[in-house]
Amino acid sequence: MKLWMAGLGMAALMGATPVLEAMAQPSPAAIVTERREGFKAAGDNMTAIAAVARAGGDPRGTVERIAAVQAWFATAGTRFPAGTQQGAPGIDTRALPAIWTDRATFDTAMAAMGPRLTALREAAASGNVANFQAAVQATGAACGDCHRPFRAR
Ligand code: HEC
Repeated sequence: MKLWMAGLGMAALMGATPVLEAMAQPSPAAIVTERREGFKAAGDNMTAIAAVARAGGDPRGTVERIAAVQAWFATAGTRFPAGTQQGAPGIDTRALPAIWTDRATFDTAMAAMGPRLTALREAAASGNVANFQAAVQATGAACGDCHRPFRAR
């Protein structure tokens, strides 16, 4: 009985392997499309968050948007494989080749987002408008720190 079940499990696993491999290897163009959509959504969220800061509104309503931006930046750094830079065949991107020639600086700029967004979320949840406004500024500056060297205009 036990052996029979083990055999069944093995057959199921073998059948699933090609599917898993196909899913694990999206094309460079598909990676770039998803990457741009992710940054675009983060940008839209940040625009809405900044509007609340400018208006001096209650920051507590922005916590959900900040959480969405945090979720994006948790994986954004993994979305820059080789062959997805500006100039690569069949790729429509503003990601500059400098990302791949100076990866350490790029990774540092990416890692800087984590603590900025944590501070932004804490300031928003606290309801303190001045702290929230300062944290929005600091977060926006961190976006620019990466865009200036690594994103084409
Ligand atoms: C570590 C680098 C880095 C950080 C940090 C970063 N970005 Fe970007 N961003 C990029 C790169 C590179 C691209 C170009 C992606 C592409 O075209 O494939 C981009 C593209 C974008 C785009 C354009 C997406 C589109 O429509 O194609 C927006 C909007 C954007 N980022 C917003 C933000 C915001 C807002 C922040 C801060 C909360 C931020 N980014 C932080 C590197 C970064």
